[in-house]
Amino acid sequence: MKNASTLIVGAQFGDEGKGKIVDSLVQDEKFDCVVRYNGGNNAGHTIVSDGNTYPLHLIPSGILHPRVSNVIGAGVVVDPHGLVAEMGTLATRGVSCSNLCISDRAHLVMPWHKVIDGHLGKAIGTTARGIGPCYEDRASRRGLRVGDLVNENQKVDRDHFSERFREVATQKNRILTRLYDLPPLKVEEELETVLGLAEQFREAVCDTAELLNRLKNQGKKILFEGAQGCLLDLDWGTYPYVTSSSATLAGCLSGSGSAHIPERRIGIVKAYSTRVGEGPYPGELGDYEAIRVPSMRGKGPVSADLTDEQKQAALAGDDQIMGNWIRRAGQEYSMTTGRPIRCGWLDLVAVKHAVEVSGLTEIALTKLDVLANIPKLKLLTAYQDKEKTLTTFPSRIAQLARCKPIYEEQEGFGEVRGAETFAQLPNPAKSYIKRIEEYLQTPVRIISVGPGRAEHIIKERSCDPG
Ligand code: IMP
Repeated sequence: MKNASTLIVGAQFGDEGKGKIVDSLVQDEKFDCVVRYNGGNNAGHTIVSDGNTYPLHLIPSGILHPRVSNVIGAGVVVDPHGLVAEMGTLATRGVSCSNLCISDRAHLVMPWHKVIDGHLGKAIGTTARGIGPCYEDRASRRGLRVGDLVNENQKVDRDHFSERFREVATQKNRILTRLYDLPPLKVEEELETVLGLAEQFREAVCDTAELLNRLKNQGKKILFEGAQGCLLDLDWGTYPYVTSSSATLAGCLSGSGSAHIPERRIGIVKAYSTRVGEGPYPGELGDYEAIRVPSMRGKGPVSADLTDEQKQAALAGDDQIMGNWIRRAGQEYSMTTGRPIRCGWLDLVAVKHAVEVSGLTEIALTKLDVLANIPKLKLLTAYQDKEKTLTTFPSRIAQLARCKPIYEEQEGFGEVRGAETFAQLPNPAKSYIKRIEEYLQTPVRIISVGPGRAEHIIKERSCDPG
């Protein structure tokens, strides 16, 4: 599959380390184009290159490679403030965005979306970036699109946009003041700001579906970079504790406008599991309250190094401390909001669901190094719901919330950083990976063993004996 298009999707609750895998693939396999097709700047993709860390939210992870086209597709929601700020941060580090293309069909996150999300999103634990309200307006046909702001000649369409903006902003101000008892937005001030920001990205705006299909017909290699993960997908996740876009193969097709199903579909799976925000999480280690509510954080070290005594307690069954151990080792604090992230053992039932929903052909296992030196590991292989044992992912959150994890124990392993081949991994690490392949009936082809761009192993065969 030399020229195969490739899809990268999160197979858990987001934050699986997709950015690093995209960046490595672009470099190693010479992709010509990277496409974001869902979500917005609620995502956080981190790339570490030459000792520098590049946090990306909206811009595709191929941006560090000048020869690669980086496309923001129609299914993405674009916050002009976030976009220009990110372009600015990249520019200060010498990264140009002249290889960025933004779909004229993508919807714009407007100031009222952020205010409404900040006001209503707490129950879901949203990122407050206005993502849900923006997709809501898209579905109800009230949205403003990039093409309303920038015309087909890549010029800011001041008259058209101002008219649409004033019309929608006036309606939204009524909602803000009368329904939510919030102060109104300053319409003219906000309008001028958006028009000014548009000047900084107008030259990137184009018909990206036409571009993608042209590149595909020219035999170029395209990499589709999903944001979030299957369990946050609007339809296939833990509804309503989900994001508002499609984070699966289906979203790739509708959100990019590319008519080709990517032949290679890689699910990114973190070696353990994490979840940001609210919602049921059967494999969670410890009590969410203790990390969610700042005044409760004294219950266990959220960010301090663990003492030997605490490690012993974790191994003896104190899940709160085990959760802290993994959180600390994996530096699991949200890049977008800074919140401590909920941690648990790898949930294979949930990942199997993601494999099926997106027809994944292979797995990239990330952050294996985080589990190094934890003497005993667990894999979640089934849920116990009252008398029933489940190996499929329930759709009703009431059922999911009732489910108790059933684990298989795995022997822990020592350092894996520095390993360059599967054979160089410690035997217990190989067994851990082999069990994942067996359970998912899907090969693990990429194993990330450290944060750096080069710190990963390519494994050619399934269940490679090493
Ligand atoms: P929203 O996408 O901001 O509406 O948030 C909805 C849910 O998705 C919340 O639980 C967020 O924490 C979660 N979420 C959104 N984007 C990401 C991401 O990139 N990684 C992990 N969680 C995310």
